[in-house]
Amino acid sequence: MDAEHLASDLDRVLVSEEQIHRRLAELARTIEADYEGKDLLLVGVLRGAVMMMADLARSLDRDVEMDWMAVSSYGSGTTSSGVVRILKDLDSDITDRHVVVVEDIIDTGLTLSWLVSNLTSRRPASVEICTLLRKPDAQQMAVEVRYVGFDIPDEFVVGYGLDYAERYRNLRSIATLAAHVYS
Ligand code: PRP
Repeated sequence: MDAEHLASDLDRVLVSEEQIHRRLAELARTIEADYEGKDLLLVGVLRGAVMMMADLARSLDRDVEMDWMAVSSYGSGTTSSGVVRILKDLDSDITDRHVVVVEDIIDTGLTLSWLVSNLTSRRPASVEICTLLRKPDAQQMAVEVRYVGFDIPDEFVVGYGLDYAERYRNLRSIATLAAHVYS
């Protein structure tokens, strides 16, 4: 879906569809170089990372495996609760494997810092993070992120997998949500 179909719900497009795809291609080239000769497992974090995972994986000119986890951190509001629960665990054993966690956004950093320490305890060969978006001004927990698409301001954003109350995930760009929608 294009932003024009949601014009009254959105303030502005922050990252266009074209910018997303150009940046994903750059990240894919970097990941290919970094993992040359190594096997690679991409771990997507449901549900927000579905679009990012699908496009990043198809941008990679190499074989990868994909697995998924679902964790809960937000509920349906706009602020982080800090509570992380596993709703769906990996199907794969990641012992001795190279893992890249694929995320749509790092906001407070609570989800990813918890997730990385959880995955690290399973003794993988390595764990790195690839996130499309990061909000440096909102971060409460330091998380080492190897691959970042875009640093964005601390505003509520939707689209390309990101939702507000489960809506807007199928918007092809990233946009800021108009305050009247959530206030
Ligand atoms: C979002 C996003 C990250 C997390 C980031 O997921 O996909 O997993 O929040 O926030 P944090 O850095 O403040 O912890 P959400 O819980 O909204 O679930 P969803 O992916 O199903 O939309």
